Amino acid sequence: MFGRIKDYKTEGNKVNVEFEKGSGFIEIIKDDIIRIFSSIDSVERNSKAICEKAGDSVKFNVSKDENGVKIVTELLTIVVCDDFKTDVYDKDGQSVCSDFRGEREQVQRISDEDRKLLEGEGHSVGEENGNYKIQVLKKLDNVKAFYGLGDKTGFLNKAGYHYEMWNTDNPDPQVDCFKALYKSIPFFIALTTGRPYGIFFDNTFHSYFDMGKESQDYYYFAADEGDLDYYFMLGESMADVIKGYTYLTGRTPLPQMFTLGYHQSRWSYSSADEVRQIADNMRKNRIPCDTIHLDIDYMDDFKVFTFSEQRFPAVKEFVNDLSSEGFKIVTIIDPGVKAEDGYNIYEEGKSNGYFAKSEDGSIYKNRVWPGTSVFPDFGNGDVRKWWGDNQKYLVDMGVRGVWNDMNEPASFDGPLPDNVVFRDGDRVTNHKEIHNVYGHFMAQATYDGLKKYDGRRPYVITRACYAGSQKYTTAWTGDNHSIWAHLQMAVPQLCNMGISGIAFAGTDVGGFGSDVTPELLARWVQTGCFSPLFRNHSAKGTRYQEPWRFGDEVLDIYRKYVELRYRLIPYFYDLFHECEQTGMPVLRPLILNYPDDKEVINMNDEFMVGDSILVSPVVNPGQTKKMVYLPKGVWYDYDTKERIDGGTYIIKDAPLDICPVYIKAGAIIPNYPVQQYIGEQKIEKLILDVYPGEGSCTHYQDDGESFEYQDGVYNEYRFANCDGKVDVEIVHHGYKEKYKEMEIHYKGDINIIQME
Ligand code: GLC
Repeated sequence: MFGRIKDYKTEGNKVNVEFEKGSGFIEIIKDDIIRIFSSIDSVERNSKAICEKAGDSVKFNVSKDENGVKIVTELLTIVVCDDFKTDVYDKDGQSVCSDFRGEREQVQRISDEDRKLLEGEGHSVGEENGNYKIQVLKKLDNVKAFYGLGDKTGFLNKAGYHYEMWNTDNPDPQVDCFKALYKSIPFFIALTTGRPYGIFFDNTFHSYFDMGKESQDYYYFAADEGDLDYYFMLGESMADVIKGYTYLTGRTPLPQMFTLGYHQSRWSYSSADEVRQIADNMRKNRIPCDTIHLDIDYMDDFKVFTFSEQRFPAVKEFVNDLSSEGFKIVTIIDPGVKAEDGYNIYEEGKSNGYFAKSEDGSIYKNRVWPGTSVFPDFGNGDVRKWWGDNQKYLVDMGVRGVWNDMNEPASFDGPLPDNVVFRDGDRVTNHKEIHNVYGHFMAQATYDGLKKYDGRRPYVITRACYAGSQKYTTAWTGDNHSIWAHLQMAVPQLCNMGISGIAFAGTDVGGFGSDVTPELLARWVQTGCFSPLFRNHSAKGTRYQEPWRFGDEVLDIYRKYVELRYRLIPYFYDLFHECEQTGMPVLRPLILNYPDDKEVINMNDEFMVGDSILVSPVVNPGQTKKMVYLPKGVWYDYDTKERIDGGTYIIKDAPLDICPVYIKAGAIIPNYPVQQYIGEQKIEKLILDVYPGEGSCTHYQDDGESFEYQDGVYNEYRFANCDGKVDVEIVHHGYKEKYKEMEIHYKGDINIIQME
């Protein structure tokens, strides 16, 4: 398509290459991160994802020979050849990623006649074979596995599958052959026989990722429109690649500590009285809980930024009462604004031209919960600011977080047509380009508004998002079902979201649609309590799913695991702190920690929480023994404290109340006492759960809610463990509330270290 290379020119950190039939550039962002770009339709676009770039200080050499234009940095050699084929080598000269030279060989499927026959009975026939306007083919020869691609169905390793990026709300039970869900994160990591690499295809149009399904020789990524614009990053490890990707697109900021506690939700707790009852039951049943989410029925006629006066009279008082019991209220806000004359949000948006339009200039309408609705044009910065300012209404009511839903955007009267007019800043564009970033923009507006009016670290939870949304929001995986397949899927789904930068994520614990069984709920809470976002949520019309609805056995199991979560709060908080620094996810597939262990390349039913905790949950009905794989090294069974040599599979007894959990030898796990909510007790003593062996870690402490930590108002401790002998050092002291004691738990003994 580009033809032969004619010339090249270096400008700053870009190497512009001119071809016979077009041009493009390689931008050197870091020694191990480059951007490959060519404008296909001459439109100037700003990335929605990229937040900062170094570059100017990167040293590189450029030369040209018969092979092409050669760019050499400290860590990479890039050779740009005719037709803009680009090959990358590592610093040892090993080929890491090469463009495929042949043509695509599309899958032969079906004759037109047969297609008609099949479709007659309602079968759908795959059709991902188009020749896309933008399409990049890479060789598969050295690839062992692919990970990432954000929130997708199926298993951990994406090799051999085809996915699409088009934010999709489909409430049917989501299974392996679903191509798209609510989020579009066009980033993946290739685990190779050499160094791993990542590719971020920064294109917001409908895009396609065929990870070797079509061919044994190549994989491809493609898009309907937009630019050829992707980032390539190489790492010594997968963790390095994630660091590079989150350097580009931003990292999950340290959240308020309460958000790491347990969240209870339901569509819907629809009156203040009902919420009070839920809250009372939480405390009565001793299930720790910090947050209750209010779904759409709290509103007056589903009008955003209203409360129903009938069902929620005296909102402030209600929120205040709950707050004195330690509960925080989070409210749902959908983008669809009820088109009702006299309704302030509709009127304001209408008079300012803030809603998306049809091509004829009229406001575009579709149907969502409130009936006929209009859609804020979040691509316009003024609209985002206006939406952000509207959060003040909620903040003034005492609301502590905002849940953004239906922001794909979902619509009931068919999808929004491609030509609905949106803005991208000052530029006029359409739904095709904005669809995949609609939720991203909405989350950004919400984050900014909460930060402005509440001032604390904003808590936003979203269903739809794009690459980089982690800067603004947490995410849940949308409308799963109370089926075992969805508990099984939760593990790889959350692992891949973490790899894709969305570290603060969770599934609806217990499942959203369909009726949960007691056994499924008991098992789900065992995975849920280790998920970064820990929320039980269920749909209208399904069996009520609060922990006390299933008898004493399930209630006790539920309590056991929610309590475990509350014990581990400081451990989770440390991991979030680490994530903000490095992008390293909280919940990790084993391959991230054990990249050389081939047993874990496809490990779908185990995960790590940080470096020290390995969880191997039971995700099948009736199963009371679990085959657990432990990577090489020494491990301790969390339940029995038994020492186990890894590098092998073991069979663990796992009756309904046991989730197999293993702790790495030498680990030091900071614990808090169980509280019914974060802040119930003043924590003056940190418990350190210490395991035989040698290890060290850092522990982070601050006020748990403000931004003062960014000005140094925090403490950092360094712990070293040598078979239970623990050294404590304070490496940063900026926060006045220092722990008074460290309580060391080792092999059943308790020792106290006094801190002066
Ligand atoms: C969507 C959301 C779900 C919510 C429901 C009602 O289906 O995904 O979580 O409960 O809408 O607001």
